[in-house]
Amino acid sequence: MTTLTIKRPDDWHLHLRDGDMLKGVLPYSAKDFARAIIMPNLVPPVVTTSDAKAYRERIMSALPEGMSFEPLMVLYLTEDTDPADVEAGFKSGLITSLKLYPAGATTNSQSGVRDFDKVQGVLEKMAEIGMPLCMHGEVTDGDIDIFDREAVFIDRVLDPLRKRNPELRVVMEHLTTKQGVDYARSGGDNLGATITTHHLIINRNAILAGGIKPHYYCLPVAKREEHRLALREAATSGDPTFFIGTDSAPHTDELKEHACGCAGCFTAINTMSLLAHVFEEEGKLENLEAFASLNGPQFYGLEPNNETMTLVKQDAVVDYPAKIETVAGPVTVFDPMFDVKWAVQ
Ligand code: NCD
Ligand code: ZN
Repeated sequence: MTTLTIKRPDDWHLHLRDGDMLKGVLPYSAKDFARAIIMPNLVPPVVTTSDAKAYRERIMSALPEGMSFEPLMVLYLTEDTDPADVEAGFKSGLITSLKLYPAGATTNSQSGVRDFDKVQGVLEKMAEIGMPLCMHGEVTDGDIDIFDREAVFIDRVLDPLRKRNPELRVVMEHLTTKQGVDYARSGGDNLGATITTHHLIINRNAILAGGIKPHYYCLPVAKREEHRLALREAATSGDPTFFIGTDSAPHTDELKEHACGCAGCFTAINTMSLLAHVFEEEGKLENLEAFASLNGPQFYGLEPNNETMTLVKQDAVVDYPAKIETVAGPVTVFDPMFDVKWAVQ
């Protein structure tokens, strides 16, 4: 039996949703993660400090008694976002960062940014107060192949935006390409990047080979094997640029198994087991703590958690459900297609 004890991890990109779904999924994140960056793509989105305050209260009242969890609230950047509201929210400690969705890039992103000049005032204010910007890094142009949208975003949007705002702290979220890894690595201290659990495990074959597998469809879409390998190398390297953001994004089975299925993989429940498996396969178990528990707080200027988590490699396959039942409907858990032997104790 192998055991590994690390500081308790945090999740730097999480979708908790609202209402019945929030109640159904929150306990799984709160069980393993001390804190999480809470994505604001609700309908309607979380755009003001007062929206975030109300959403935070709904999260805290959905938390089962006896569990502790700190939601780090994020505002959805729109062309109408008010820099004064952002500054007040950040300075009060309620708001941790802003999220930039190019309009139309993913689930509930229609209120996102079309004209970057319209958000320049907010970006300048964020750079001034040291507030990080989380970025969904994909262009949305119909003429750009979906598998190229991250790489094109780096050249057309991210790099010019960072040159215009060199002091702005940016998180490239859910990297899926070698180009993303290379750019993040060369970006200096003001640039961080999250990598999801599932992008370390699947490539695009999982979605398309042998029939359409909607539970592997997420955005940004998984790419070729060479990109998965680059992500694994980056995540397991110990480089402080890279940290876990599960992007656990629950949708009911009805909406996933659909003629126009929703994007998102639900990984809150098994992420830590899967990461231990991946890091062991790469011969880098000693770097799991950096990726899951140290690099994220360091980028966000927070202390790592005091508590610890112990992972145990057992002989028997870990028994977690293939689906969870929520009042909103069943949600399929991400299936890594290998036997999971690492259990969170
Ligand atoms: C996310 C969702 O469902 O909200 N989906 C996903 O595939 N990751 C949106 C997102 O983060 O892009
Ligand atoms: Zn997401």
